Amino acid sequence: MSTEGSPQSSSTKLTAYDIQARKGGPKLSMVSVYDFPFARLAEEAGIDILLVGDSLGMVVQGHDSTVPVTLNDVVYHTKAVRRGASRTHVVADLPFLTYHIDTGRAIESAGRLLQEGGADSVKLEGGQEIAERAAAIVRAGIPVMGHIGLTPQSAGALGGFKVQGRDVASARRILADAQAIADAGAYAVVLEVIPAELGGMITASVPIPTIGIGAGAACDGQVLVAHDMLGLQERIIGRFAKVYANVGDDVRRAFTSFAEEVRSGSFPDEEHSYGMAKDVLAQLRESSR
Ligand code: KIV
Repeated sequence: MSTEGSPQSSSTKLTAYDIQARKGGPKLSMVSVYDFPFARLAEEAGIDILLVGDSLGMVVQGHDSTVPVTLNDVVYHTKAVRRGASRTHVVADLPFLTYHIDTGRAIESAGRLLQEGGADSVKLEGGQEIAERAAAIVRAGIPVMGHIGLTPQSAGALGGFKVQGRDVASARRILADAQAIADAGAYAVVLEVIPAELGGMITASVPIPTIGIGAGAACDGQVLVAHDMLGLQERIIGRFAKVYANVGDDVRRAFTSFAEEVRSGSFPDEEHSYGMAKDVLAQLRESSR
């Protein structure tokens, strides 16, 4: 398949080092994707970073949280994304409880995402409480992206999917989380659903790129979930999730037309059927008399 003319057709894959060096430079784009076709389309569109997010639990598997997602699930989806986008940096999420129990397990989990999944780096949720674990993974030679603010794996403990850092104490905690993750050696950090002003303060205070989702325009980059931005979601999402296309409507229309045509017998027509040579057909009929 030709990618001629696509924005990134001749570019090389960004490393974690390249991404870190983009601090304060051209803004970074990242999307969460989970399969081969979306990864291919995102790469052709010139997206800088693909995230195999554990949001797959909600948008692909139909759960109401990311907690049920397993490491095997993320490995499986990372392989598919890697096959679709060989020239784009792929970050894979460490799911719930795959890095909390002990350091050995955290390094092993992260290693599987690189060795089996083909990811270039891993992402983990949490701030000061998880910083030493993040540092151990970095020391093992695995690039780490942090994720603070609204951390969906612990949404229950945070009071649900709601804006974080709206009072002084929690805003200060998130600022300290950002610093701890940067000190741990992370190459970038996702800021999820915090006031834009706080996103700006964190971006100005840490030496690594901030990638925002509902964290305002000052961040060094932005991330959205592909299924949210393409109108493939029925669930209510925050107002940060701008919808760029209504693919869901097109898909529903196509399925409806197919079902109607099958019922009416208008599909398949001659154009979508295979014929047999007349003499072969005649012989066949003769021999089966
Ligand atoms: O799982 C995911 O897709 C994410 C993004 C929303 C940042 O963590």
